[in-house]
Amino acid sequence: MAVIIGGVATTHVPSIGKAIAERKYKDPYWSPFFKGFDYVHDWLAREQPDVVVVFYNDHGLNFFLDKLPTFAVGAAPLYRNEDEGWGIPVARSIPGDPALSWHLINALVADEFDITICQEMLVDHAVTIPMALMWPGEHWPIRIVPVSINTVQHPLPSLRRCLNLGRAVGRAIETYAGNLRVMIVGTGGLSHQLDGKRAGFINTKFDQFCMDKIVNEPELLARYSVHNVVEEAGAQGVEFLNWMAMRGALTGRVTEMHRNYHVPISNTAAATMVLENRASAQREAA
Ligand code: DHB
Ligand code: FE
Repeated sequence: MAVIIGGVATTHVPSIGKAIAERKYKDPYWSPFFKGFDYVHDWLAREQPDVVVVFYNDHGLNFFLDKLPTFAVGAAPLYRNEDEGWGIPVARSIPGDPALSWHLINALVADEFDITICQEMLVDHAVTIPMALMWPGEHWPIRIVPVSINTVQHPLPSLRRCLNLGRAVGRAIETYAGNLRVMIVGTGGLSHQLDGKRAGFINTKFDQFCMDKIVNEPELLARYSVHNVVEEAGAQGVEFLNWMAMRGALTGRVTEMHRNYHVPISNTAAATMVLENRASAQREAA
């Protein structure tokens, strides 16, 4: 049976890709952020995931404003990146796991989530930057199932809806017959706003609150409306929806193993968390 080992949440700011290409790990601007991944690397070396289900938002590479699904699930054998115009090198392609994708797709539709099924899907910096951060070498030793959430074109799905999407994904993974170690990733955030009068807006207090509560009180966060989050965390701070979905997919006992918070990276409050998931005692006994 598949097991859900835990989740990682991380910022996906594109300029990180440029800093990685230029090997700026020890640069004073970058080191407080990159150091936050030392623990993640140790945790991944210990936990050895086979597959990553990654909740993220596409920024116009695969979907544009003309057609923008609320939720889209990849079912491709391979996911390519392309030049997105941020001055970062085009990332390597990432293998998919179509059998797990179709299992999740079937379960989600049965659970009344009207997802878009993508047998071809480009993945942007919101997928590739987190992969490069987690596995800094020449090889990313995992397959992915990308799940994109619309955080771009209002109306956006609610925090509760995203938490429930994650829960449905978590339940589906637990019924997958394949012998897989599955890790969940949520990308983006925390507070940031890239345009308009509040460009550069960051709210450290709200970010800390979100990181505190997501561990064991995600229901409390689910009471916030999307507009509350825009107000508190900035127009792009709503990428926190991806974190909510990640948290929902952790179906067992959840423990915070690590967090790093550093302001700013580019325009963004950069945050990294590792949440371990252990099957509940009931399930272990079953
Ligand atoms: C930045 C942050 C993002 O989440 C993004 O998608 C693009 C840019 C930034 O802070 O520069
Ligand atoms: Fe973003």
